[in-house]
Amino acid sequence: MKRITLAAAVALPLFIATANTAFAAKIAVIGTGNVGSALGPEFAALGHTVVYGSRTPTDKDVQDLVAKTGHGATATTQPEAVKGADMVLLAVPGNLAVDITKSLGDLSGKIIIDPTNAPTPPTDDRSSSQIIASFVPTARVVRAFNTVPAEVMLNPQFESGRASTFVCADDPLARVTVLSLARDIGFDAVDAGPLKSACAIDRLLAVWRVLAFDAGLGRNVAFELLRR
Ligand SMILES: NC(=O)c1ccc[n+]([C@@H]2O[C@H](COP(=O)([O-])OP(=O)(O)OC[C@H]3O[C@@H](n4cnc5c(N)ncnc54)[C@H](OP(=O)(O)O)[C@@H]3O)[C@@H](O)[C@H]2O)c1
Repeated sequence: MKRITLAAAVALPLFIATANTAFAAKIAVIGTGNVGSALGPEFAALGHTVVYGSRTPTDKDVQDLVAKTGHGATATTQPEAVKGADMVLLAVPGNLAVDITKSLGDLSGKIIIDPTNAPTPPTDDRSSSQIIASFVPTARVVRAFNTVPAEVMLNPQFESGRASTFVCADDPLARVTVLSLARDIGFDAVDAGPLKSACAIDRLLAVWRVLAFDAGLGRNVAFELLRR
């Protein structure tokens, strides 16, 4: 089992913990496609309890994913999955993310991790995470993982370095929590500031698509931030 360093338990109002205190969260993974099935097992391997929210929780492919995830993972409907969850990963189609989020029920105080990308970026200057946040103002929306492909989520470690994921949120403790989570599953997690920064970060996705598809590098490429 990978080691949990989710010091950010401090970020969760339900828990009082000091930094470096190991903390196992309940994470609702909404959607069992490429992203849900990549990140769910990674979170579980850290010792977190994963509950998949699926339209078809009893179907064989979902049950196979539950078995592969292990560590007490379960699957249920999407609204049931978020009940009692500390964090919610929105691994759903970008064009449906707002409607699905609204259908999940009470998300107050929960950390909502949003990796969704709409097929066409929003036309105003808001990222899709800001739009989602505007519909669930009592939740703590965090933008993360959206500029890395599912293939890299499975293993962010490359021979030459680690893939970066850029984490944006207005709630600083929620941001720290997701930075810890991303780091724990192997990413170079970069604090990219408030949620409005996601708008600029999202432009990396266009660059990634050009490199992956137009330039022929394939999907298994990712950005790494160099620092001095
Ligand atoms: N794929 C990538 O490499 C990647 C990387 C970064 C970000 N993203 C973004 O992450 C999100 C998920 O991507 P993905 O590739 O995992 O998509 P996906 O494979 O299509 O999976 C999305 C999941 O959402 C659920 N879903 C689909 N339609 C739904 C509906 N009408 N109502 C409720 N739930 C529905 C389904 O889960 P159930 O069948 O279990 O209900 C489905 O498996 C997207 O917004 C995408 O832009 C993807």
